Amino acid sequence: MLIIRPFSFSDLDAILQIERQSFPKSPYDWTTFLQLSVLYPETFLVHTHITDGQKERTIRGYIIFSKNGHIISIAVHPRHRRQGVGKELLQRAMKIPRLKKVWAEVRRNNLGAQAFYSKMGFEMTGEVSNYYGNEDALIIQWTPVPHKSSC
Ligand SMILES: CC(C)(COP(=O)(O)OP(=O)(O)OC[C@H]1O[C@@H](n2cnc3c(N)ncnc32)[C@H](O)[C@@H]1OP(=O)(O)O)[C@@H](O)C(=O)NCCC(=O)NCCS
Repeated sequence: MLIIRPFSFSDLDAILQIERQSFPKSPYDWTTFLQLSVLYPETFLVHTHITDGQKERTIRGYIIFSKNGHIISIAVHPRHRRQGVGKELLQRAMKIPRLKKVWAEVRRNNLGAQAFYSKMGFEMTGEVSNYYGNEDALIIQWTPVPHKSSC
């Protein structure tokens, strides 16, 4: 059974492994993750699952976002990519009630992440030169469709 739950301290080693494989140039370190877990206790989420024996399995990915819709980071373990894990995590941010938008910065050369966000309905709305040192960021954004009143 799939579980998406808030980060806990015991997840740190697994998260750091995912991080180093996902962002080899500039991985967050453990102090950054601990600070983020204090800043975003309800929206630093990990993706895992339990087996029939009720034992929780390894962490497959994580997402950190602010309640106003800013994706701070998202990563899925390379072994578990293209299995819908990222989609399930990102949908948690996209389901925040009364949200005006969800947005993220993506490295210009991170074509995989750009394809992922595009598939999720995000569009490029801007760019920031040298956001990552000497590399540009694209700003990608998703806006919820307003519900029509039934009256
Ligand atoms: C981006 C990332 C989080 C996507 O996670 P994921 O679990 O593999 O994504 P999903 O399986 O939910 O993908 C959903 C859809 O997005 C698209 N997609 C995802 N990754 C893609 C890729 N590398 N290339 C092209 N399309 C991709 C596909 O349409 C996919 O559906 P499909 O597999 O049925 O074709 C993951 O690749 C990752 O951790 N990358 C490294 C870290 C990173 O770049 N994070 C984003 C920083 S802004």
